[in-house]
Amino acid sequence: MKAIVAMTRNRVIGKNNRIPWRLSGEQRWFKEVTMGHPILMGRKTFESIGRPLPGRRNLVVTRAGKFAGVELIRDLNAFDPAPYELDGAEIFVIGGAEIYQALLDRCDVIYATVVKREYDGDAYFPEFESQFEISEMIRETPEFDIFCYRRASTSKF
Ligand SMILES: NC(=O)c1ccc[n+]([C@@H]2O[C@H](COP(=O)([O-])OP(=O)(O)OC[C@H]3O[C@@H](n4cnc5c(N)ncnc54)[C@H](OP(=O)(O)O)[C@@H]3O)[C@@H](O)[C@H]2O)c1
Repeated sequence: MKAIVAMTRNRVIGKNNRIPWRLSGEQRWFKEVTMGHPILMGRKTFESIGRPLPGRRNLVVTRAGKFAGVELIRDLNAFDPAPYELDGAEIFVIGGAEIYQALLDRCDVIYATVVKREYDGDAYFPEFESQFEISEMIRETPEFDIFCYRRASTSKF
């Protein structure tokens, strides 16, 4: 699986169940990368988005919630990505904090948009630098940079 996230340098990803910024071009990037692939998200992130995202299988992790137009994942520990990753499809883990934390160990790639301004937050991306290294700088803009991180072949610890 791959994770995709937008965060500040302090790893803030959200506040009050929303993303605290809106950056021109960033949503387009998210759409470009995830289109056609299954996207896996926590219930709070799904509620924050407010609807299934078109052109992608929407997998929503929730212990008891019921939502139309999405596939519900009840037990994350028992979750097997294989049936969703046929014919070149790859699951993108799209957040939020709880879901990134739970699944980071099972991700081999992180597409990270690093926002240059700092924002207050109550949701954070987990520490990942000890397990991942930058494999590509994808884009550099005045407001944010986009990096591709890959799992380091040997962990620093
Ligand atoms: N900047 C970004 O790239 C980005 C991306 C995504 C989200 N966000 C932000 O992140 C914040 C939301 O993150 P969050 O951590 O509060 O919520 P979340 O990860 O989106 O969702 C948490 C919910 O997922 C379900 N869940 C978690 N672990 C589970 C498990 N093991 N089995 C079954 N269900 C499980 C539970 O739903 P139930 O309570 O229904 O059981 C839990 O309440 C928001 O501020 C959002 O805007 C930012």
